[in-house]
Amino acid sequence: MELKQFPKEFLFGGAIAANQAEGAWNVDGKGPSTTDVSNGIVGPVDDNIIEGKFYPSHEAIDFYHRYKEDIALMAEMGLQCFRTSIAWPRIFPNGDEEQPNEKGLQFYDDLFDELLKHGMEPVVTLSHYETPLHLANTYGGWDNRELIGFFTKFSEIVFKRYKNKVKYWMTFNEINNLHTIPFATGAFRPERKENPVQALYQAAHHQFVASALATKLCKEIIPDAQMGAMLSLSVSYPNTCHPDDVFETYQLRRRSLFFADVQIRGEYPRYIKRVWKEHHVEVQMEQGDEEIIRQYPVDYLGFSYYRSTTHKAGTKIIGNTGGIIGTPNPYLESTPWGWQIDPKGLRYVCNELYDRYQIPLFIVENGIGMDEGPNDNSEIIDDERIRYLDLHLKEILEAIEDGVEMMGYTWWGPIDIVSAGTGEMKKRYGFIYVDKDNDGNGTLDRKKKKSFDHYKEVIASRGKNLFA
Ligand code: BG6
Repeated sequence: MELKQFPKEFLFGGAIAANQAEGAWNVDGKGPSTTDVSNGIVGPVDDNIIEGKFYPSHEAIDFYHRYKEDIALMAEMGLQCFRTSIAWPRIFPNGDEEQPNEKGLQFYDDLFDELLKHGMEPVVTLSHYETPLHLANTYGGWDNRELIGFFTKFSEIVFKRYKNKVKYWMTFNEINNLHTIPFATGAFRPERKENPVQALYQAAHHQFVASALATKLCKEIIPDAQMGAMLSLSVSYPNTCHPDDVFETYQLRRRSLFFADVQIRGEYPRYIKRVWKEHHVEVQMEQGDEEIIRQYPVDYLGFSYYRSTTHKAGTKIIGNTGGIIGTPNPYLESTPWGWQIDPKGLRYVCNELYDRYQIPLFIVENGIGMDEGPNDNSEIIDDERIRYLDLHLKEILEAIEDGVEMMGYTWWGPIDIVSAGTGEMKKRYGFIYVDKDNDGNGTLDRKKKKSFDHYKEVIASRGKNLFA
Protein backbone atom coordinates (compact mmCIF):
# COMPACT_ATOMS: atom_id res chain seq x y z
CA MET A 1 0.00 0.00 0.00
CA GLU A 2 1.22 3.50 -0.79
CA LEU A 3 2.59 5.31 2.24
CA LYS A 4 0.43 8.18 3.35
CA GLN A 5 2.00 11.59 3.87
CA PHE A 6 0.91 14.81 5.52
CA PRO A 7 -0.27 17.47 3.07
CA LYS A 8 2.08 20.39 2.59
CA GLU A 9 -0.30 22.89 4.26
CA PHE A 10 -0.34 20.81 7.46
CA LEU A 11 1.76 22.64 10.07
CA PHE A 12 4.06 20.64 12.29
CA GLY A 13 5.09 22.37 15.48
CA GLY A 14 5.47 22.38 19.21
CA ALA A 15 3.54 24.03 22.05
CA ILE A 16 4.33 25.46 25.45
CA ALA A 17 2.66 27.94 27.80
CA ALA A 18 4.32 31.03 29.22
CA ASN A 19 3.73 30.09 32.86
CA GLN A 20 5.23 26.61 32.46
CA ALA A 21 8.36 27.72 30.63
CA GLU A 22 9.32 31.36 31.02
CA GLY A 23 10.05 31.66 34.74
CA ALA A 24 11.19 35.26 35.44
CA TRP A 25 7.92 35.55 37.30
CA ASN A 26 8.65 39.05 38.64
CA VAL A 27 11.22 40.26 36.12
CA ASP A 28 10.83 43.43 34.04
CA GLY A 29 7.65 44.45 35.78
CA LYS A 30 5.66 41.22 35.51
CA GLY A 31 2.97 40.73 38.16
CA PRO A 32 2.02 37.38 39.73
CA SER A 33 -0.45 35.13 37.94
CA THR A 34 -2.82 32.55 39.39
CA THR A 35 -0.24 29.86 38.59
CA ASP A 36 2.45 31.70 40.53
CA VAL A 37 0.70 30.81 43.82
CA SER A 38 0.31 27.12 43.11
CA ASN A 39 2.41 24.03 43.05
CA GLY A 40 0.48 22.29 40.30
CA ILE A 41 -3.16 22.83 39.45
CA VAL A 42 -4.41 19.85 41.38
CA GLY A 43 -2.75 20.93 44.64
CA PRO A 44 -3.70 23.67 47.11
CA VAL A 45 -3.38 27.27 46.01
CA ASP A 46 -2.12 30.11 48.21
CA ASP A 47 -3.87 33.46 48.34
CA ASN A 48 -0.60 35.27 47.87
CA ILE A 49 3.00 34.33 47.35
CA ILE A 50 4.55 33.06 50.58
CA GLU A 51 8.06 34.39 51.02
CA GLY A 52 10.68 31.62 50.76
CA LYS A 53 8.27 28.97 49.48
CA PHE A 54 9.13 27.06 46.30
CA TYR A 55 6.78 27.64 43.38
CA PRO A 56 7.71 25.81 40.17
CA SER A 57 6.54 28.55 37.79
CA HIS A 58 8.84 31.17 39.31
CA GLU A 59 11.88 29.92 37.48
CA ALA A 60 10.36 27.16 35.33
CA ILE A 61 12.97 26.46 32.62
CA ASP A 62 13.98 30.11 32.36
CA PHE A 63 12.74 30.32 28.79
CA TYR A 64 12.51 34.08 29.36
CA HIS A 65 16.30 34.33 29.24
CA ARG A 66 17.08 31.28 27.10
CA TYR A 67 14.48 31.44 24.36
CA LYS A 68 17.00 32.11 21.60
CA GLU A 69 18.89 28.91 22.33
CA ASP A 70 15.62 26.97 22.62
CA ILE A 71 14.13 28.34 19.43
CA ALA A 72 17.33 27.52 17.55
CA LEU A 73 16.83 23.92 18.66
CA MET A 74 13.19 23.99 17.53
CA ALA A 75 14.35 25.32 14.16
CA GLU A 76 16.90 22.52 13.92
CA MET A 77 14.02 20.06 14.28
CA GLY A 78 12.30 21.82 11.40
CA LEU A 79 9.26 23.07 13.33
CA GLN A 80 6.99 25.12 11.09
CA CYS A 81 5.06 26.72 13.91
CA PHE A 82 5.44 27.28 17.62
CA ARG A 83 2.58 27.73 20.05
CA THR A 84 3.01 29.72 23.22
CA SER A 85 0.92 32.09 25.32
CA ILE A 86 1.34 35.71 26.25
CA ALA A 87 1.50 35.97 30.03
CA TRP A 88 -1.22 38.53 30.67
CA PRO A 89 0.47 39.85 33.86
CA ARG A 90 3.62 40.59 31.88
CA ILE A 91 1.57 43.09 29.89
CA PHE A 92 -0.78 44.22 32.68
CA PRO A 93 0.86 43.20 35.98
CA ASN A 94 -2.37 43.56 37.97
CA GLY A 95 -4.73 43.24 35.05
CA ASP A 96 -6.61 46.47 35.68
CA GLU A 97 -3.99 49.15 34.94
CA GLU A 98 -4.52 51.94 32.46
CA GLN A 99 -1.20 51.50 30.67
CA PRO A 100 0.58 48.30 29.59
CA ASN A 101 4.07 47.34 30.71
CA GLU A 102 6.39 48.18 27.82
CA LYS A 103 9.06 45.69 28.87
CA GLY A 104 6.56 42.86 28.74
CA LEU A 105 5.41 43.89 25.28
CA GLN A 106 9.01 44.12 24.13
CA PHE A 107 9.74 40.58 25.31
CA TYR A 108 7.07 39.11 23.01
CA ASP A 109 8.19 41.34 20.14
CA ASP A 110 11.64 39.83 20.47
CA LEU A 111 10.30 36.31 20.91
CA PHE A 112 8.05 36.48 17.84
CA ASP A 113 10.87 38.04 15.79
CA GLU A 114 13.10 35.17 16.77
CA LEU A 115 10.48 32.64 15.68
CA LEU A 116 9.88 34.40 12.38
CA LYS A 117 13.61 34.68 11.76
CA HIS A 118 13.73 30.87 11.90
CA GLY A 119 10.68 30.47 9.65
CA MET A 120 8.24 29.45 12.40
CA GLU A 121 4.69 30.79 12.58
CA PRO A 122 3.80 31.91 16.09
CA VAL A 123 0.52 30.38 17.32
CA VAL A 124 -0.58 32.39 20.32
CA THR A 125 -2.96 31.69 23.19
CA LEU A 126 -4.16 34.84 24.92
CA SER A 127 -4.88 33.19 28.25
CA HIS A 128 -3.29 29.93 29.34
CA TYR A 129 -3.83 29.46 33.09
CA GLU A 130 -2.17 32.78 33.92
CA THR A 131 -4.79 35.38 34.83
CA PRO A 132 -3.24 38.21 36.87
CA LEU A 133 -3.56 37.17 40.53
CA HIS A 134 -4.94 40.58 41.44
CA LEU A 135 -8.01 39.88 39.29
CA ALA A 136 -8.63 36.71 41.28
CA ASN A 137 -8.06 38.29 44.68
CA THR A 138 -9.76 41.64 44.17
CA TYR A 139 -12.49 40.85 41.68
CA GLY A 140 -13.11 37.18 42.53
CA GLY A 141 -12.20 35.89 39.08
CA TRP A 142 -14.08 35.40 35.82
CA ASP A 143 -17.57 35.25 37.28
CA ASN A 144 -17.10 38.99 37.75
CA ARG A 145 -18.20 40.81 34.60
CA GLU A 146 -15.46 43.42 34.95
CA LEU A 147 -12.92 40.93 33.68
CA ILE A 148 -14.42 41.17 30.19
CA GLY A 149 -13.25 44.77 29.94
CA PHE A 150 -9.76 44.03 31.27
CA PHE A 151 -9.31 41.11 28.89
CA THR A 152 -10.60 43.06 25.92
CA LYS A 153 -8.15 45.84 26.60
CA PHE A 154 -5.28 43.35 26.90
CA SER A 155 -6.35 41.69 23.64
CA GLU A 156 -6.54 44.96 21.76
CA ILE A 157 -3.09 46.00 22.93
CA VAL A 158 -1.47 42.75 21.82
CA PHE A 159 -3.34 42.55 18.50
CA LYS A 160 -2.16 46.06 17.64
CA ARG A 161 1.37 45.38 18.76
CA TYR A 162 1.85 42.02 17.02
CA LYS A 163 -0.44 42.45 14.02
CA ASN A 164 2.42 41.97 11.57
CA LYS A 165 3.85 39.00 13.41
CA VAL A 166 1.06 36.72 14.60
CA LYS A 167 -1.69 35.26 12.39
CA TYR A 168 -2.87 32.31 14.47
CA TRP A 169 -4.58 33.10 17.76
CA MET A 170 -6.65 31.34 20.41
CA THR A 171 -8.51 32.99 23.27
CA PHE A 172 -8.82 30.73 26.36
CA ASN A 173 -6.79 27.58 26.82
CA GLU A 174 -9.00 24.56 27.54
CA ILE A 175 -11.98 26.76 28.30
CA ASN A 176 -14.06 23.67 29.17
CA ASN A 177 -11.76 22.99 32.11
CA LEU A 178 -13.74 25.64 33.99
CA HIS A 179 -15.50 22.51 35.23
CA THR A 180 -12.49 20.69 36.57
CA ILE A 181 -9.84 23.31 37.36
CA PRO A 182 -11.76 26.56 37.82
CA PHE A 183 -8.96 28.52 39.49
CA ALA A 184 -6.52 27.87 36.66
CA THR A 185 -9.09 28.39 33.92
CA GLY A 186 -11.34 31.02 35.44
CA ALA A 187 -9.40 32.51 38.39
CA PHE A 188 -12.25 31.78 40.81
CA ARG A 189 -12.41 29.50 43.82
CA PRO A 190 -15.61 27.44 43.73
CA GLU A 191 -15.38 26.64 47.44
CA ARG A 192 -15.81 30.33 48.18
CA LYS A 193 -18.91 30.70 46.04
CA GLU A 194 -22.44 30.24 47.29
CA ASN A 195 -23.42 28.24 44.20
CA PRO A 196 -20.24 26.99 42.48
CA VAL A 197 -22.16 25.79 39.42
CA GLN A 198 -23.64 29.27 39.03
CA ALA A 199 -20.13 30.76 39.25
CA LEU A 200 -18.91 28.31 36.65
CA TYR A 201 -21.53 29.15 34.04
CA GLN A 202 -21.35 32.85 34.81
CA ALA A 203 -17.58 32.74 34.30
CA ALA A 204 -18.13 30.78 31.09
CA HIS A 205 -20.56 33.41 29.84
CA HIS A 206 -18.09 36.18 30.53
CA GLN A 207 -15.36 34.27 28.73
CA PHE A 208 -17.66 33.67 25.74
CA VAL A 209 -18.39 37.39 25.50
CA ALA A 210 -14.71 38.26 26.00
CA SER A 211 -13.70 35.71 23.37
CA ALA A 212 -16.23 37.08 20.86
CA LEU A 213 -15.07 40.65 21.52
CA ALA A 214 -11.46 39.58 21.08
CA THR A 215 -12.40 37.84 17.82
CA LYS A 216 -14.08 41.03 16.62
CA LEU A 217 -11.00 43.09 17.45
CA CYS A 218 -8.70 40.54 15.90
CA LYS A 219 -10.64 40.62 12.62
CA GLU A 220 -10.60 44.41 12.57
CA ILE A 221 -6.95 44.82 13.47
CA ILE A 222 -5.46 41.80 11.65
CA PRO A 223 -7.84 40.98 8.78
CA ASP A 224 -5.83 37.96 7.63
CA ALA A 225 -5.60 36.39 11.11
CA GLN A 226 -7.44 33.28 12.28
CA MET A 227 -8.98 32.98 15.71
CA GLY A 228 -9.51 29.63 17.35
CA ALA A 229 -11.31 28.19 20.33
CA MET A 230 -9.23 25.85 22.48
CA LEU A 231 -10.73 22.91 24.38
CA SER A 232 -9.45 19.91 26.26
CA LEU A 233 -11.02 17.07 24.30
CA SER A 234 -9.44 13.84 25.40
CA VAL A 235 -12.31 11.44 25.03
CA SER A 236 -14.38 9.48 27.54
CA TYR A 237 -15.92 6.11 26.69
CA PRO A 238 -18.81 4.41 28.49
CA ASN A 239 -17.49 2.09 31.14
CA THR A 240 -19.83 -0.64 29.89
CA CYS A 241 -22.50 -0.95 27.24
CA HIS A 242 -25.17 -0.42 29.91
CA PRO A 243 -27.45 2.32 28.50
CA ASP A 244 -26.98 4.35 31.70
CA ASP A 245 -23.22 4.40 31.19
CA VAL A 246 -23.68 5.23 27.52
CA PHE A 247 -26.08 8.11 28.06
CA GLU A 248 -24.20 9.64 30.96
CA THR A 249 -21.01 9.50 28.93
CA TYR A 250 -22.83 11.36 26.18
CA GLN A 251 -23.90 13.98 28.70
CA LEU A 252 -20.36 14.24 29.98
CA ARG A 253 -19.07 14.83 26.47
CA ARG A 254 -21.70 17.48 25.93
CA ARG A 255 -20.56 19.18 29.11
CA SER A 256 -17.27 19.81 27.26
CA LEU A 257 -18.63 20.33 23.76
CA PHE A 258 -21.03 22.91 25.16
CA PHE A 259 -18.12 25.38 25.09
CA ALA A 260 -17.35 24.66 21.44
CA ASP A 261 -21.05 24.74 20.59
CA VAL A 262 -21.27 28.32 21.83
CA GLN A 263 -17.96 29.52 20.40
CA ILE A 264 -18.43 27.88 17.00
CA ARG A 265 -22.19 27.94 16.43
CA GLY A 266 -22.56 31.32 18.08
CA GLU A 267 -25.45 30.46 20.35
CA TYR A 268 -26.30 28.62 23.53
CA PRO A 269 -27.51 25.07 22.83
CA ARG A 270 -30.99 24.10 24.02
CA TYR A 271 -29.73 21.26 26.23
CA ILE A 272 -27.92 23.63 28.58
CA LYS A 273 -31.17 25.19 29.81
CA ARG A 274 -32.08 21.94 31.55
CA VAL A 275 -28.66 21.69 33.19
CA TRP A 276 -29.00 25.24 34.47
CA LYS A 277 -32.48 24.58 35.80
CA GLU A 278 -31.38 21.48 37.67
CA HIS A 279 -28.51 23.35 39.28
CA HIS A 280 -30.40 26.57 40.05
CA VAL A 281 -28.25 28.53 37.66
CA GLU A 282 -29.39 31.86 36.30
CA VAL A 283 -26.75 33.27 34.02
CA GLN A 284 -26.80 37.04 34.07
CA MET A 285 -26.52 38.43 30.55
CA GLU A 286 -26.57 41.99 29.35
CA GLN A 287 -28.25 43.26 26.26
CA GLY A 288 -26.02 42.65 23.26
CA ASP A 289 -24.13 39.71 24.79
CA GLU A 290 -25.87 37.04 22.77
CA GLU A 291 -25.62 39.14 19.64
CA ILE A 292 -21.86 39.57 19.95
CA ILE A 293 -21.46 35.83 20.55
CA ARG A 294 -23.57 35.17 17.46
CA GLN A 295 -21.66 37.61 15.27
CA TYR A 296 -18.15 36.53 16.14
CA PRO A 297 -17.70 32.76 16.19
CA VAL A 298 -14.19 31.33 15.91
CA ASP A 299 -12.57 30.25 12.66
CA TYR A 300 -11.10 26.98 13.83
CA LEU A 301 -11.15 24.57 16.73
CA GLY A 302 -7.88 24.00 18.56
CA PHE A 303 -7.83 21.19 21.07
CA SER A 304 -5.65 19.07 23.29
CA TYR A 305 -5.78 15.30 23.20
CA TYR A 306 -3.71 13.09 25.47
CA ARG A 307 -5.68 9.99 26.40
CA SER A 308 -9.06 8.43 26.93
CA THR A 309 -10.91 7.72 30.13
CA THR A 310 -14.02 5.72 30.88
CA HIS A 311 -17.18 6.93 32.57
CA LYS A 312 -19.41 5.00 34.90
CA ALA A 313 -23.01 6.05 35.47
CA GLY A 314 -23.55 7.62 38.85
CA THR A 315 -20.23 9.46 38.96
CA LYS A 316 -21.13 13.06 39.60
CA ILE A 317 -20.49 15.01 36.43
CA ILE A 318 -21.56 18.55 37.20
CA GLY A 319 -19.49 20.90 39.27
CA ASN A 320 -17.09 18.27 40.49
CA THR A 321 -13.37 18.29 40.06
CA GLY A 322 -12.27 15.08 38.46
CA GLY A 323 -14.39 12.02 39.11
CA ILE A 324 -14.66 11.24 35.44
CA ILE A 325 -12.59 8.11 35.47
CA GLY A 326 -14.53 4.87 35.79
CA THR A 327 -12.38 1.80 35.82
CA PRO A 328 -9.14 1.40 33.90
CA ASN A 329 -9.67 0.44 30.29
CA PRO A 330 -8.25 -3.10 29.98
CA TYR A 331 -7.48 -2.60 26.29
CA LEU A 332 -5.06 0.27 26.81
CA GLU A 333 -1.63 0.82 28.31
CA SER A 334 -0.98 3.64 30.77
CA THR A 335 1.77 6.19 31.29
CA PRO A 336 3.50 6.25 34.71
CA TRP A 337 0.97 8.97 35.60
CA GLY A 338 -1.94 6.66 34.81
CA TRP A 339 -2.95 8.40 31.58
CA GLN A 340 -4.22 5.72 29.22
CA ILE A 341 -2.66 5.83 25.79
CA ASP A 342 -5.26 5.72 23.03
CA PRO A 343 -4.16 6.76 19.53
CA LYS A 344 -7.35 5.53 17.89
CA GLY A 345 -9.26 7.78 20.27
CA LEU A 346 -7.62 10.71 18.50
CA ARG A 347 -8.98 9.60 15.12
CA TYR A 348 -12.36 9.16 16.79
CA VAL A 349 -12.25 12.69 18.23
CA CYS A 350 -11.13 14.29 14.96
CA ASN A 351 -14.07 12.66 13.18
CA GLU A 352 -16.48 13.46 15.98
CA LEU A 353 -15.52 17.16 15.95
CA TYR A 354 -15.49 17.55 12.21
CA ASP A 355 -18.87 15.84 11.86
CA ARG A 356 -20.28 18.22 14.45
CA TYR A 357 -18.75 21.52 13.31
CA GLN A 358 -17.28 21.28 9.80
CA ILE A 359 -14.56 23.81 10.56
CA PRO A 360 -10.78 23.19 10.45
CA LEU A 361 -9.24 21.44 13.42
CA PHE A 362 -5.85 22.17 14.93
CA ILE A 363 -4.37 19.64 17.37
CA VAL A 364 -2.50 22.10 19.55
CA GLU A 365 -1.52 19.67 22.32
CA ASN A 366 -0.64 15.99 22.27
CA GLY A 367 2.21 14.31 24.07
CA ILE A 368 3.39 11.92 26.75
CA GLY A 369 4.87 12.71 30.15
CA MET A 370 7.67 10.34 31.19
CA ASP A 371 10.23 10.37 33.97
CA GLU A 372 13.57 9.98 32.20
CA GLY A 373 17.16 11.14 32.23
CA PRO A 374 20.59 10.51 30.74
CA ASN A 375 21.95 6.94 30.86
CA ASP A 376 25.61 6.02 31.56
CA ASN A 377 26.52 7.13 28.05
CA SER A 378 24.78 10.46 28.60
CA GLU A 379 22.10 9.58 26.09
CA ILE A 380 18.40 9.94 26.69
CA ILE A 381 16.62 7.09 25.01
CA ASP A 382 12.92 7.86 24.94
CA ASP A 383 11.51 5.15 22.72
CA GLU A 384 8.09 5.35 24.42
CA ARG A 385 7.77 8.94 23.25
CA ILE A 386 8.70 8.03 19.68
CA ARG A 387 6.14 5.26 19.74
CA TYR A 388 3.44 7.52 21.18
CA LEU A 389 4.17 10.18 18.57
CA ASP A 390 4.11 7.79 15.65
CA LEU A 391 0.96 6.02 16.75
CA HIS A 392 -0.91 9.30 17.12
CA LEU A 393 0.36 10.77 13.86
CA LYS A 394 -0.73 7.64 12.02
CA GLU A 395 -4.24 8.11 13.32
CA ILE A 396 -4.20 11.75 12.23
CA LEU A 397 -3.27 10.59 8.74
CA GLU A 398 -6.26 8.27 8.88
CA ALA A 399 -8.48 11.14 10.01
CA ILE A 400 -7.29 13.26 7.10
CA GLU A 401 -8.07 10.35 4.82
CA ASP A 402 -11.51 10.20 6.49
CA GLY A 403 -12.06 13.73 5.18
CA VAL A 404 -11.28 15.78 8.28
CA GLU A 405 -9.80 19.25 7.62
CA MET A 406 -6.66 19.47 9.74
CA MET A 407 -4.56 22.61 10.10
CA GLY A 408 -1.67 21.08 11.97
CA TYR A 409 -0.19 19.48 15.02
CA THR A 410 1.81 21.03 17.84
CA TRP A 411 3.44 18.49 20.14
CA TRP A 412 2.99 19.44 23.77
CA GLY A 413 6.26 20.42 25.43
CA PRO A 414 8.89 19.89 22.69
CA ILE A 415 11.27 20.92 25.48
CA ASP A 416 10.75 19.72 29.08
CA ILE A 417 8.67 22.22 31.04
CA VAL A 418 6.87 22.29 34.38
CA SER A 419 3.81 20.04 34.50
CA ALA A 420 0.65 22.12 34.77
CA GLY A 421 -1.19 19.44 36.69
CA THR A 422 1.36 18.34 39.24
CA GLY A 423 3.98 21.10 39.20
CA GLU A 424 6.66 18.48 38.63
CA MET A 425 9.66 18.79 36.34
CA LYS A 426 10.04 15.04 36.17
CA LYS A 427 6.83 14.66 34.16
CA ARG A 428 8.74 15.35 30.98
CA TYR A 429 7.24 15.75 27.50
CA GLY A 430 10.26 17.07 25.63
CA PHE A 431 12.33 16.05 22.66
CA ILE A 432 14.83 18.24 24.50
CA TYR A 433 15.80 17.45 28.07
CA VAL A 434 16.22 20.19 30.66
CA ASP A 435 18.50 19.50 33.60
CA LYS A 436 16.27 20.38 36.51
CA ASP A 437 14.52 18.32 39.18
CA ASN A 438 11.28 18.68 41.08
CA ASP A 439 12.93 20.67 43.87
CA GLY A 440 14.44 23.20 41.50
CA ASN A 441 17.98 21.78 41.44
CA GLY A 442 19.92 21.48 38.18
CA THR A 443 21.98 23.39 35.66
CA LEU A 444 19.05 24.10 33.31
CA ASP A 445 21.27 22.82 30.50
CA ARG A 446 19.45 21.54 27.44
CA LYS A 447 20.17 18.18 25.83
CA LYS A 448 18.63 16.42 22.82
CA LYS A 449 16.82 13.16 23.45
CA LYS A 450 16.60 10.33 20.92
CA SER A 451 13.16 11.58 19.87
CA PHE A 452 14.67 14.89 18.70
CA ASP A 453 16.07 13.37 15.52
CA HIS A 454 12.97 11.28 15.06
CA TYR A 455 10.58 14.25 15.09
CA LYS A 456 12.96 16.08 12.77
CA GLU A 457 12.76 13.20 10.34
CA VAL A 458 8.95 13.01 10.68
CA ILE A 459 8.69 16.65 9.68
CA ALA A 460 11.23 16.38 6.86
CA SER A 461 9.57 13.29 5.39
CA ARG A 462 6.01 14.57 6.04
CA GLY A 463 5.34 11.42 8.02
CA LYS A 464 6.84 8.89 5.65
CA ASN A 465 9.17 7.57 8.31
CA LEU A 466 6.44 6.63 10.80
CA PHE A 467 7.01 3.07 11.86
CA ALA A 468 4.82 0.52 10.12
C1 BG6 B 1 -3.12 20.57 29.17
C2 BG6 B 1 -2.67 21.97 29.47
O1 BG6 B 1 -4.24 20.31 29.89
O2 BG6 B 1 -2.31 19.51 29.53
C3 BG6 B 1 -1.16 22.12 29.62
O3 BG6 B 1 -3.14 22.88 28.52
C4 BG6 B 1 -0.60 20.92 30.37
O4 BG6 B 1 -0.89 23.34 30.23
C5 BG6 B 1 -0.91 19.67 29.59
O5 BG6 B 1 0.76 21.02 30.66
C6 BG6 B 1 -0.34 18.38 30.17
O6 BG6 B 1 -0.71 18.26 31.50
P1 BG6 B 1 0.35 18.04 32.65
O7 BG6 B 1 -0.41 18.12 33.90
O8 BG6 B 1 0.95 16.71 32.40
O9 BG6 B 1 1.35 19.15 32.50
